Amino acid sequence: MSIRDSRTTYEKSALDEADAAADPHAQFERWLGEALETDGLPEPNAMTVATVSAGGQPSARIVLLRGHDARGFVFFTNYDSRKGHELDGAGRAGLLFFWAALERQIRVDGRVERLDATESDDYFARRPRGHRLSAWASPQSAVVPSRAMLEERMADADRRFAGEDVPRPDYWGGYRVVPEAFEFWQGRRNRVHDRVAYVRDGDAWRRERLAP
Ligand SMILES: Cc1cc2nc3c(=O)[nH]c(=O)nc-3n(C[C@H](O)[C@H](O)[C@H](O)COP(=O)(O)O)c2cc1C
Repeated sequence: MSIRDSRTTYEKSALDEADAAADPHAQFERWLGEALETDGLPEPNAMTVATVSAGGQPSARIVLLRGHDARGFVFFTNYDSRKGHELDGAGRAGLLFFWAALERQIRVDGRVERLDATESDDYFARRPRGHRLSAWASPQSAVVPSRAMLEERMADADRRFAGEDVPRPDYWGGYRVVPEAFEFWQGRRNRVHDRVAYVRDGDAWRRERLAP
């Protein structure tokens, strides 16, 4: 099948402005809950994080959503990575969820803040030991000479923290994306999809339908 002629008809569901929750965080929880309950839907908490460099070059990669509440969307990474520098530099990010099995996409745009050290410590402590060691071993986004070098650094970190808890490196922690706009997309027949956007209006959210 060529990608030129591969087409899916979307007809699983609908999203009406009137049925969408008044609060986009509640609407997000509704859809996330359905994604989590859908059998066989891989990595339901995977999302694309889009950043922009000082020169205006956008870049995107997947990370795992580790928390969501009325304050925003939380994920964890290396503050010295490419995304870390771009998030700190621009102070803004775009998030994207795509759940193909549900024919749904969610966009979130907003400003970015680092989590408090204690919040990052709490999360880091829950990670398996190997994952914590890799935070020490891997200079995320840097060019490295070989995989062997990374394995050596893992072994070094393992020896260094033998018999003790692996502490959180200060260059590793969480970000929170504080949303200023949301868009919920539900695929429909003949490409006449539903798009419900939420924009900040003082302390409230205004809901509007966008053309597909
Ligand atoms: C399913 C999946 C989950 C991922 N989760 C994370 C994550 O939670 N944090 C993270 O830093 N990188 C995660 N990554 C790796 C990133 O996509 C990316 O390769 C890495 O963070 C380096 O990105 P950067 O060089 O743009 O900073 C994940 C990748 C995939 C495919």
